[in-house]
Amino acid sequence: MNNFEFKNPTKIIFGKDTIEKVKEEIPQDAKVLLLFGGGSIKKNGIYDQVKTALAGVDVVEFGGIPANPEYATLMEALQVIKDENITYLLAVGGGSVIDGTKFLSAAAVYDGDTPWDILTKNIKTEKGMPFGTVLTLPATGSEMNSGAVITRAETQEKLAMGGPGLFPEFSILDPQVIQSIPQRQLANGLTDAFTHVLEQYMTYPIGALLQDRFAESILQTLVEVAPKVLKDPTDYKAAANFMWSCTMALNGLIQKGVPTDWAVHAIGHELTALFGIDHARTLAVIAPSHYKFNFEDKKEKLAQYGERVWNITEGSIDDKAYAAIEKTVDFFHQLGIDTKLSDYTKDYEGTAEKISQRFTDRGWTGLGEHQTLSPDKVEKIVKMAY
Ligand code: NZQ
Ligand code: ZN
Repeated sequence: MNNFEFKNPTKIIFGKDTIEKVKEEIPQDAKVLLLFGGGSIKKNGIYDQVKTALAGVDVVEFGGIPANPEYATLMEALQVIKDENITYLLAVGGGSVIDGTKFLSAAAVYDGDTPWDILTKNIKTEKGMPFGTVLTLPATGSEMNSGAVITRAETQEKLAMGGPGLFPEFSILDPQVIQSIPQRQLANGLTDAFTHVLEQYMTYPIGALLQDRFAESILQTLVEVAPKVLKDPTDYKAAANFMWSCTMALNGLIQKGVPTDWAVHAIGHELTALFGIDHARTLAVIAPSHYKFNFEDKKEKLAQYGERVWNITEGSIDDKAYAAIEKTVDFFHQLGIDTKLSDYTKDYEGTAEKISQRFTDRGWTGLGEHQTLSPDKVEKIVKMAY
């Protein structure tokens, strides 16, 4: 096992009817900016619950943060923070609203001229403006981690940022919120969380027995609850397990002491930036090709995953590893998620070369657990995913 340090300061408030606790978590003298997305919270009652809970608190609102949070929109919110002397941010939404809020937390204290530099120059935020979240969509784990991904339509870029100062102070997780989530987004959430675990697991064995089993147990739980969640989002038992699995998939715990990959996300983000494909779907497009292309490096963990998660008992390591990739693709299909780029766009010719060139330009010359996945390999993987 590798050496590691682990600190996660986010307080989780989990369970039925917990949104009413939000006021207790915010400093009494705070001037709060309540941030939300395209308006789903106004239809499903979450906005009303939050507003009722915040009675007596000084609150300004900023709605309209789009899925794949857009830099231009966030710059408008940053102006509101400055004009209104905001001291505390409250994100009410899914990964996009929470990530947008993290960007604002960083940008509000950033003293450079252009906040986009936080993303392009990889500036780590040590201490941002404090913020909390009310999660409305289980998927990204953003509610309990310190990373964010921001999109800029103008340049068709989607870049990651983060830093130890960007953990939410608290996150409220009421599994009842999933009742209003459309099937497409539920399937996305399941796929995103599943792939988060794969990115931190599908590398090479390092004798981290507990981390492997943490990862496998999250995968098994997602496989078990997926059909229940999709069939009946009012099934509280399934919803609670779904929500907690998504958080645990990316709150840092399972990646401690083990190698991680994250190439699927790096490539997937480009497909969202170029074609607007939902984040989770880009992962389902890239992961199978990535695992096939890097089969020799990953086959031992692929076989272990096949045995323990999919009960594949027959055959050699290679047979099991290959069957595990097939099972993964079947799982995505059962969720209604297509796994080829051509399923999403007819305009895919040249995409592989474009992504490879972008990675070269950014100096991303060695991705993956061995830092050996060069742009020319990325190009081949994307072509396999057409
Ligand atoms: O905009 P609103 O009206 O809120 O509607 C949203 C949006 O249309 C809707 N929704 C959310 N909660 C709902 C609901 N609809 C009905 N009922 C509810 N309770 O769902 C749509 C998608 O929301 P979004 O926040 O975009 O989805 P998700 O949580 O999947 O977030 C995706 C973003 O997170 C980034 C992705 O790249 C993408 O930009 N990621 C963030 C990560 C992180 N911070 O750690 C890691 C991930 O790998 C990912 O990259
Ligand atoms: Zn993801």
